[in-house]
Amino acid sequence: AAPTDYQAENALISQGVVESNHAGFTGSGFVNFDNLVGSYVEWTVQSPTAGPADVTLRYANGTTAARPLDFTVNGVAGAVGITFPGTGAWTNWQTKTVRLSLVAGSNKIRARATTADGGPNADKLTV
Ligand code: GCU
Ligand code: CA
Ligand code: CA
Repeated sequence: AAPTDYQAENALISQGVVESNHAGFTGSGFVNFDNLVGSYVEWTVQSPTAGPADVTLRYANGTTAARPLDFTVNGVAGAVGITFPGTGAWTNWQTKTVRLSLVAGSNKIRARATTADGGPNADKLTV
């Protein structure tokens, strides 16, 4: 099926805020993860079939330190320690793709910060 966009600002957010002060986002804004371990964004993605899927996060990181995220699907570890390197500025958005195993039906895809820097600013997930 054609990829679908899931905006971060419409997802479930724990310890993060929706903002729009850095240009270049899509939709109505992006999520600024709180800069701490455990902040997360969780998207609910419907899949018609079970199996591996390419999941792309559009993000910005205006620092020079990579900001790793762990991805889980319905609470199951999916992709661990995925790094999101600096993009040069908070207004420069790039994408990174991970492959996650989805179930048929509802998939709660959570991206959780694992360092005290929190995650990168998150624009959207494309599945
Ligand atoms: C700045 C920036 C935020 C970003 C934050 C961070 O405050 O404006 O968008 O999330 O740095 O370092 O995480
Ligand atoms: Ca932040
Ligand atoms: Ca967005």
